[in-house]
Amino acid sequence: MIRISERLRRLPGYPLAEIPGIKRRLIEAGVDVIDLGAGDNDTPPPGEVVAAMNEALADPANSKYGFQLGHAEYRRAAARYLARRFGHEFDPMTELLPLIGSKEGLAHLPFGLVDPGEVVVLPEPGYQAYLGGAVLSGAEPFVYPLVADNGFLLELDRVPPAVLDRTRLVYLNYPNNPTAAIAPLDYLTRTVNECRARGIVLAYDNAYCDLTFDDYRAPSIFDVPGARDVAVEFFSLSKSFSMTGWRIGFAVANAPLIAALSKIKSYLDTGPFLAIQQAGAVALDQAERLVEPIRAELERRRDAGVAALARAGFSVTTPKAAMYLWVPLPEGVASAKFTRFALEEHGVVTLPGSGFGPAGEGYFRIALTVGAGRLTEAIERLGTALAEFTTRATAGAA
Ligand SMILES: Cc1ncc(COP(=O)(O)O)c(C=O)c1O
Repeated sequence: MIRISERLRRLPGYPLAEIPGIKRRLIEAGVDVIDLGAGDNDTPPPGEVVAAMNEALADPANSKYGFQLGHAEYRRAAARYLARRFGHEFDPMTELLPLIGSKEGLAHLPFGLVDPGEVVVLPEPGYQAYLGGAVLSGAEPFVYPLVADNGFLLELDRVPPAVLDRTRLVYLNYPNNPTAAIAPLDYLTRTVNECRARGIVLAYDNAYCDLTFDDYRAPSIFDVPGARDVAVEFFSLSKSFSMTGWRIGFAVANAPLIAALSKIKSYLDTGPFLAIQQAGAVALDQAERLVEPIRAELERRRDAGVAALARAGFSVTTPKAAMYLWVPLPEGVASAKFTRFALEEHGVVTLPGSGFGPAGEGYFRIALTVGAGRLTEAIERLGTALAEFTTRATAGAA
């Protein structure tokens, strides 16, 4: 009998794991399934980047191991992007690291920073890689519940002092998945100050920084003076360029933090495929032009989605960024049961709030992955699903 480690047993099943199987069964049965589950937009990657990838594939040098150094040009393009986008200069060779998607960098980080008995503070609901990295590395996770009343902000001064004394790492993610919350600069400033005072590393997950709406521009954590002492910021090409499956991102921080992450990764992987790095450099060098159509499409979807939700009887705040609608459910409606019902009976994939941890209960997440027309249809179905679900629940209770 195989014995599964205590660490692995402590992790719940990954929330997206069972959906593809159910979806396939429904499609085979002839159901018109609309998938608003994973944050995986249906827009294609930019043609220029695909062309660059084809060219890169033809060069045999790109078929070699990339190691952690990777393509110097990718590092330089990432540094140029940061300089243009935020006005911050980083040394591409020592303060930046190519990642096989930002997920692995986020999850690997605690292996290099946290010893057993020490604490990683992470938000809930939140991206599951934080919990995975904390638990698998042997750290003690402290799960901080994000609540609407506080703008879904993780406030370190509300963590018990005895826990903070043992905390080595905190994850923050704004624009946020799944709540779509954004972080005011004064909040980031007080959090950086607290981390500096306590010697806590701040992992700032900025995967959605370019997917912003109306007049909002998302900051970098390095906009905060002193952040370079403690912060490591994670960027992803997945969402901004519709390149989720390519697996490419990067981390940026002071040289010792980057060296630590690079050392961990050198034992676990050999860097992103060089051809993808070469194409990724093309994407980053033209980011402003290439991201705009994807961003604008998401904004149209956001507007259509918010309007359709209001018509269908849901109430949701209009998000300023990311690609999600975080929708409250009526009191007493369990999110996992409702989203399962909506999928099985109405063919709409959404994610239950509880899939992002118990503190996500009471909500479900819609990803803006399909065009405005399909999204509106899906939300109409969700409205019908909720009416049926609550009627059945009331009848069952009677
Ligand atoms: C908050 C957040 N961070 C990071 C990622 C990972 O992105 P990547 O594809 O770069 O691994 C995601 C993907 O959904 C995310 O939602």
